[in-house]
Amino acid sequence: MSDTEKTFTLTNDQTGESVKLPVRDGTIGPSVIDVRALYAETGHFTFDPSFTATGSCKSRITYIDGEEGILMHRGYMIEQLVEKSNFMEVAYLLLNGNLPDQTQYEDFRHTITYHTMVHEQVHNFFRGFRRDAHPMAVMCGAVGGLSAFYHDSLDIWDERQREISAHRLIAKMGTLAAMAHKYSIGQPFVYPDNSLDYASNFLKMCFSVPAEKYEVNPILAEAMDKILILHMDHEQNASTSTVRLAGSSQANPFACIASGIACLWGPSHGGANQEVLEMLAEIGNKKRIPEFIEKAKDKNDPFRLMGFGHRVYKNFDPRANVLKKYADQVLQELGIQDEQLELAMELERIALEDPYFIERKLFPNVDFYSGIILKAMGFPTSMFTVLFALARTVGWVSQWKEMIEEPSLRIGRPRQLYVGPAKRDYIDIKKR
Ligand code: SDX
Repeated sequence: MSDTEKTFTLTNDQTGESVKLPVRDGTIGPSVIDVRALYAETGHFTFDPSFTATGSCKSRITYIDGEEGILMHRGYMIEQLVEKSNFMEVAYLLLNGNLPDQTQYEDFRHTITYHTMVHEQVHNFFRGFRRDAHPMAVMCGAVGGLSAFYHDSLDIWDERQREISAHRLIAKMGTLAAMAHKYSIGQPFVYPDNSLDYASNFLKMCFSVPAEKYEVNPILAEAMDKILILHMDHEQNASTSTVRLAGSSQANPFACIASGIACLWGPSHGGANQEVLEMLAEIGNKKRIPEFIEKAKDKNDPFRLMGFGHRVYKNFDPRANVLKKYADQVLQELGIQDEQLELAMELERIALEDPYFIERKLFPNVDFYSGIILKAMGFPTSMFTVLFALARTVGWVSQWKEMIEEPSLRIGRPRQLYVGPAKRDYIDIKKR
């Protein structure tokens, strides 16, 4: 360790022994204390069960400032990307690191478009599920099963195969998500239409039927495109960390993304958007809001205000602000007077005046308003987390690719604080 290198010194107050640990600086944001030598030098592990203060990797993809409510992808603010870009261009940016020029954009768009069809045998996957299966259960199975179809792109050490897998996953997630929706409502699957952009194609696969002509509503297509951008990536959240850990064992990319889908499904994570709508339905009207606010504050009641709070954002979630604006706009343009939006805004107003939420810095997160728009677009609540997974596949795949390309890739293997029984001898059952 050179004299000029920044360090932290950790001292054992009982023995006086100390260890110097290097400090690593990023481009922006908190520096890190590199503890990789800690166990070898002190015989101690760090202890951070929910990773509240642990950096698990280096990444160039997304930066979040929780205090300032900043979300950037490859240095571009989310507000600018939502306003000026589109799903395909932001997907290129996350995967490749820079905005594409016209040729790169057209090539990427063409590649993704021409990978949207799935193998015809995949249709049989769906037929094994009950019609009332939760679409996220179907997605876990279908995406994991893609490993069985693409043996030509499972070698993670081959750059070209990594790229093909990334393209296939981004392209086919929309088709699979639409198929999950169609299967759950008993309608026939709709094949992709290569003449449409990604968001429009997705809406057509979800809402058209063979018996009628279908014109994509441009307002809905634009809203869908923006919703996909807003959900694309979010640093090392639970599902992205799951994908990285699965990928660190060199599992194939389809299996890794399936693990991310499984983790995202949880109500504390991506499953919250469905829970928000169910919570608003349970609250029913503004008069019952105080009752639910009290329930959320009651430590003896497991109820939480779904769509509120965030591990990182302690001021506001910039995505919620954009979605709130879009919710208003989409409902107005569709001529929908949605009482649940009124209810949600009143719930937000009351909660943000309550000391419990103010002290804990609990604000609406990305899930609080997204469901209101998705419901207005015609999606059942059970599809909300599938749409989150559809968008987040771009981030998962980008983070997986970045990890595999990291020269120091090793399998992730945390340790623990053991608090179980000390060594003891086996006792024969007759003597217990
Ligand atoms: C996503 O990580 C990401 O980036 C995730 C995500 C992404 O894009 O990938 O942003 C997507 O998952 C958004 C979050 C969606 N989940 C919800 O909306 C579910 C409701 N929110 C929470 O359960 C909670 O806020 C979390 C899970 C989001 C964050 O949990 P933390 O950081 O572990 O916070 P915590 O559980 O330790 O809570 C701190 C305090 C506690 O009270 P005290 O014990 O200090 O008295 O705040 C309270 C909690 O009880 N609290 C809530 C609350 N959220 C936290 N109380 C009531 N309602 C809530 N929603």
